[in-house]
Amino acid sequence: MLFDPFITGNDLAIGISLDQVKADYILVSHGHADHLADLVPLAKQNNALVIAVFEICNWAKAQGVKAVHPMNIGGQWAFDFGTLRMTYALHSSSFDDGTYAGVAAGFVIEAAGKTIYYSGDTALTQEMKLIGEQYQIDLALLPIGGNFTMDAKDAALAASFVNCKQVIALHYDTFPPIKIEKEAALAAFNDRNINLSFIKIGDTITV
Ligand code: NI
Repeated sequence: MLFDPFITGNDLAIGISLDQVKADYILVSHGHADHLADLVPLAKQNNALVIAVFEICNWAKAQGVKAVHPMNIGGQWAFDFGTLRMTYALHSSSFDDGTYAGVAAGFVIEAAGKTIYYSGDTALTQEMKLIGEQYQIDLALLPIGGNFTMDAKDAALAASFVNCKQVIALHYDTFPPIKIEKEAALAAFNDRNINLSFIKIGDTITV
C-alpha cells in the first residue's frame, strides 16, 4: 500500500527508481504534485488499485489508469485488506495546471487488527476529535512541517484529539518553507507523552 507517491523531483527520494516501487493499492490524499507526482506510472506498472476522491480517480482514469475506487469524505468501504474511511482534511486541492481536484482528504484504515490514521495535508481541526471518538487509533501519520499544514505543536494536539500515542512525522524538509528543527518537534510531542518517529527511506516500524 503506497500513500501519496512523490519520488520524481523529490530531493529526499534520490536513489529510488520508480521501477523498484511495488504496490497493490495507491492512496492519494489530494491533487498537489508533491502527493501524486508518480501516481500514474506507478499505478500502471503495478496494476494497482487507486483509492482517492472522485475527481482524482476520474483524472487518473483519463491518464489511462485502469483500476480506481472513487470515494468522498465520510464514506467507508470494505476492501480486501480491510476497511477504509475517507476523512475530512482542511487543505486545498488542485492539479498542477490549476484544475479542480476535489477536496483534500485523509484515511482511517482498519486492517490486521490495527487502526491507522493518515491525515493527509491538513490544518488542526475539531473534526479530528470525531476520529478519536469513533476509533482506537494505533498509529497516526501526520504532517508536522508547518506553513502549508500543521506544525509539530499542532500535530501533537491532533494526535491527542485522535487519542493516539504513536505518530510518524510527514511533510517536512522537502521544501525550504517546511524545514524543521527535529529536537523542537520531538519536544512538542514529548510534552504530551506521545512518541514521534522520523522514518528514513527503507526503515520499518512495528505497530
Ligand atoms: Ni498539499
